[in-house]
Amino acid sequence: MALFMKVYVAEEAGFCFGVKRALNIINSLHEKGHEVQVYGQLIHNRSVLDDLKAKGIDCIDSIDQPDPKKTLIIRTHGIPKQVEANLKKNGVKYIDATCPLVKKLQETTEGLNTNTPNTQIVIVGDRNHPEIIAAKSYCPDAIVIDSEEEAHNMKSSDHIRVVVQTTSDVDFFEHIISILENKTENLHIQNTICSATKVRQEAIKKLAPRVDGVIVVGGKNSSNTKKLYNIALKKNKNTFHIEKSSDLNDAHFTGKLKEFKSIGITAGASTPPEEIKKIEKFLNNLTSNIEKETNHGRTERNAG
Ligand code: F3S
Repeated sequence: MALFMKVYVAEEAGFCFGVKRALNIINSLHEKGHEVQVYGQLIHNRSVLDDLKAKGIDCIDSIDQPDPKKTLIIRTHGIPKQVEANLKKNGVKYIDATCPLVKKLQETTEGLNTNTPNTQIVIVGDRNHPEIIAAKSYCPDAIVIDSEEEAHNMKSSDHIRVVVQTTSDVDFFEHIISILENKTENLHIQNTICSATKVRQEAIKKLAPRVDGVIVVGGKNSSNTKKLYNIALKKNKNTFHIEKSSDLNDAHFTGKLKEFKSIGITAGASTPPEEIKKIEKFLNNLTSNIEKETNHGRTERNAG
């Protein structure tokens, strides 16, 4: 058991600008007495979605028949072009809470449409993620590449034009680019990874090798959290992914954490600051409990 455990929070962690903006939109509508429903999961964080639900704000999976009494909010990850066109056609009133940087990805992707022959348009990212499904709808000819293997298997082209998911791993994207460089003489790259993603990845790269263990907080389905976890794991094998502070209430897990002299915390862009604070507090309490246990042990030995 380590005598003291120091707890460090990464310089950049938790809520990003796009998530804060979306929550501000929803909360201010709610406070003004509007009934609100969200298309898709607003963000990939269970505790935030539970809080919204407690206020009577539901996330709906289909917008074929939105409740006309409620204001429809578009999630941060955006929606496909055709779905938005249908909303407009059907006169559905909605507020777009798509992150402006995700919007920028959609516009950039649309701008890649070209009549130049023998041009391959590539979106690097997770093809099943709503952000990429929406981005691809702006350029149906684009192909999505999500692995080194897929990049290697891609056919060569006279021109290749590339964009990337806002939450991609910066190093992974650079690696994919190095593969694509061998597939064309004309590689046109638009790096659409957002700055919030970049700074969070840089911060955990610095912190992870300096501590004994790392806790990554965020939704299991959160793309940017999964990237943070993988980056931390490469630098520190004692890396754990939890969704919320209550996941720490596991005797086996805390037993392991007690072995560490230092722990680093990072959190995905949809993790609220209160959740990070709770985890920090839990770990600091663990430290004072260790001290108490140690002092108690000493007192008993002295008495004996
Ligand atoms: Fe937007 Fe980047 Fe956050 S794209 S939602 S600022 S992770």
